[in-house]
Amino acid sequence: MTRPATPTALVTGGNRGIGRAIAAGLRTQGYRVVIGVRDLTEGQAVAGEIGVEAVHLDLQDPSTFDAVLAEIGGVDVLMNNAGVLIETNMIDDPEGFHTSVDVMFRAPYEMIRLCAPHMRAQNWGRIVNVSSGWGSFDEGLGGPGAYGVAKAALNALTLAMVRDLPAGVKINAMCPGWVRTRMGGAGASLSPEEGADTAIWLATLPEDGPTGGFFRRRAPIAW
Ligand SMILES: NC(=O)c1ccc[n+]([C@@H]2O[C@H](COP(=O)([O-])OP(=O)(O)OC[C@H]3O[C@@H](n4cnc5c(N)ncnc54)[C@H](OP(=O)(O)O)[C@@H]3O)[C@@H](O)[C@H]2O)c1
Repeated sequence: MTRPATPTALVTGGNRGIGRAIAAGLRTQGYRVVIGVRDLTEGQAVAGEIGVEAVHLDLQDPSTFDAVLAEIGGVDVLMNNAGVLIETNMIDDPEGFHTSVDVMFRAPYEMIRLCAPHMRAQNWGRIVNVSSGWGSFDEGLGGPGAYGVAKAALNALTLAMVRDLPAGVKINAMCPGWVRTRMGGAGASLSPEEGADTAIWLATLPEDGPTGGFFRRRAPIAW
């Protein structure tokens, strides 16, 4: 149960918003950071600016995940950050529902599943699922239906996965708060760096840190 000297972190949706701030923050802490991006040209430009690497990763195309992970090598820290906020009615827009579930639930599950053998072999890993208070039953599953359902499912996955991962691998979910990104809008209260703080903290937890929890501002919140 020993942390690799220079852990490799994969941040999905690392080209902008909270993901970019997470990637930059982990890089500052000495991690090798790879951002997963849909537009590789744009992603490589961002990667150059913050001193990380970029790989092409479309979370709606699970058939490519294996090859992407092989290209990176073992992932020690998996940051399931990418998200979409589709504000349509779930009954009228099944495509929006499926996209939400694919990007924010299915893809994180597949990425965890495919990263797990490496983490198991070294009995060390950190998995962070960037969720939302809108996925919390306790907070009323606010926000658009498909978004809340996908985030609630991601929360359930976080809790249930603890049983199936070895003790050295920690998995937690977090809510970044309301953050000034394309998703959060210009009027949001937090900067991307402030929104990234709890995710970075969870990615860099020491051995006695928590697992199977849901956090905001580094404090536990209810599911
Ligand atoms: N902002 C907030 O107030 C807030 C609040 C609670 C939770 N969150 C969560 O925080 C996370 C980051 O959100 P953000 O605010 O930084 O949003 P954002 O600025 O809209 O960024 C979303 C990121 O997800 C990527 N993405 C979307 N669909 C993808 C796909 N199919 N494959 C790969 N990447 C995909 C986007 O890539 P492209 O550039 O290619 O589109 C982008 O990098 C999300 O999970 C979100 O639900 C945000």
